[in-house]
Order: sequence, then C-alpha cells, then structure tokens
Amino acid sequence: GAPVEVDVSGIEPGQLVQVEWRGKPVWVTYRTEEMLELLPKNRERLVDPDSEVASQQPDYCANPTRSRRPELSVLIGICTHLGCTPSYRPEVAPEDLGENWYGGYFCACHGSKFDLAGRVWRNMPAPTNLVIPRHMYKSDNLLVIG
Ligand code: FES
Repeated sequence: GAPVEVDVSGIEPGQLVQVEWRGKPVWVTYRTEEMLELLPKNRERLVDPDSEVASQQPDYCANPTRSRRPELSVLIGICTHLGCTPSYRPEVAPEDLGENWYGGYFCACHGSKFDLAGRVWRNMPAPTNLVIPRHMYKSDNLLVIG
C-alpha cells in the first residue's frame, strides 16, 4: 500500500485522529505535557516498558515516549491479543478501569489495557505492546506513514 500523509497541524492537544493505512486503523495522538509525565508512572506494571520487542516498533521509537516527537504518538489501533480495536481512554483514573490506571487505550473485548504510549500492562490477555508503523516527518506539519 501507498504511504499515507497526515497534516498534524490541526490535531488538538489530547486529541486522537484516526487514519487508514493498508486497511488498518492508525492513530495519531497528540499527548499533552501532563500526559507525557504520566508515562514513567506505569513502568513496573508493564510487560515491555523499554520497547525491547523489536517487532512492535521501528528502532527510532524504542524510547521512553515510543515516538519520534515526544508529543505525537503513532500506533496501529489493533489489539495485540485477537485484533479488536481498543478505545481511547485518555482520562486519568476512571473508576471503572481500576486503580493506578493513568489513561491510555482499553480493549473491551477481553480487558487489555495499554498506556498512552501503547505499552501493554502485565497480566492482560494481550502479550505485546501496540505496533508502531514506520513513519517520518516530511516537515513540521506533515507526517508520512508507511
Ligand atoms: Fe483485545 Fe482480546 S482482543 S483483549
């Protein structure tokens, strides 16, 4: 499939924009400073906090924010368990998702939780972090996926 271009200039802080690439949903999420500060807090609850499973992201995203630009996260929106589409739950600690939840993505099919970098929590059905597709920024505002 052809690469997909996304103008990121219109994405609001906290907003997720979904595009399609190779028939798959791809999420581009603009994380606020506050959201980024929450990422280290999840560390000990995660299966792969340092993105060591190489199949799940390009090398340039194996970093603490799992991104090329700290604020912009690019993820394939498909649960790594059986392929449902998780929902974006950016809010901090909603009571229905359990304590110590700092927001992220929640898969209602079998309850897997992912943080705002797409890193899966331990003891969830999903075995690995959400996949990051290869991508680059052609300019400040132009993201190219694929
Ligand atoms: Fe997401 Fe099973 S498909 S938890």
